[in-house]
Amino acid sequence: MNALTTASAPGKIILFGEHAVVYARPAIAVPVCQVHADAAVEPWPEPDVRIDAPDIARQYHLSDAAPDDPIASIIRLTCARAGAEAKHFAIRIHSTIPVARGLGSGAAVSVAVARALLEFLHYSAGAEEISALAYEVEKLYHGTPSGIDNTVIAFGLPVYYVRGRPFESFRVGHPFRIVIADTGIASPTRIAVGDVRRAWEADTPRFESLFDGIGSIARAARTAIESGDIQALGPLMNANQKLAEEINVSSPQIETLVRAARDARAKGAKLSGAGRGGNIIALVDDHTETQVVAALRGAGAASVMVTEIT
Ligand code: PMV
Repeated sequence: MNALTTASAPGKIILFGEHAVVYARPAIAVPVCQVHADAAVEPWPEPDVRIDAPDIARQYHLSDAAPDDPIASIIRLTCARAGAEAKHFAIRIHSTIPVARGLGSGAAVSVAVARALLEFLHYSAGAEEISALAYEVEKLYHGTPSGIDNTVIAFGLPVYYVRGRPFESFRVGHPFRIVIADTGIASPTRIAVGDVRRAWEADTPRFESLFDGIGSIARAARTAIESGDIQALGPLMNANQKLAEEINVSSPQIETLVRAARDARAKGAKLSGAGRGGNIIALVDDHTETQVVAALRGAGAASVMVTEIT
């Protein structure tokens, strides 16, 4: 008899390279463990699956779920992978990751559910397999996801991601701290990604060149992080933000927070994720962290947290 199984998955931030990563340029993302999605699976006598998601005030059965329901989808995909029937269990999901803010909430829920369910079904799977399951669900949210979110969240390690290439992590030469500040604006990834796609179609040479610029920044950032040259990261973040503005994924609210962080002596600041709303990130050190956090709160950030990249 299967017992209760639980699993968790972290949030994430993209440090460099969002959007250009969809067009096969490299990007860098890291897990953020202060926020997480948790799933718990336990036996249930009925020939169906009970899904309990109190965060979104929903309790329903798998048999009643819409075909594109993301939770139902990861349950069906995971059971199919394990060769098990999707029935006789109840699953409860809780997440502290704000939705549609570039922190990977959708991918984290998928990874937590797949992990807990595979363990419940006694099917042993590695991060690669779990990432691939979550990627299938990402397609429902995003249309054309690069795969960076499910990868960084399933592996739980810093990732240097190039679409279509095998997982690649890298060494962090010296730990550094990032402040994450929420504009308070939900921004569905699908919309920003779709707008960039249309702009790229309308002027492909210009956008290819902007994506090349972003890709070069991500490559330089990896070298800087590996060699522990944290000072170099600030200007690279600022340069990435400038290019994000040029591809039209920034917004006045993002720029207000970015400016507040820089004015408070953050070494660099940029949007993180799809943009338009969501979170900004700022590079701080022991001398500037307190004042940058205070400045971001003062500038209207809906929430502020600090994460260390090690
Ligand atoms: O899910 P978000 O908001 O972190 O956006 C993902 C990053 C994009 O590059 C904009 C899209 C993608 O699929 O990589």
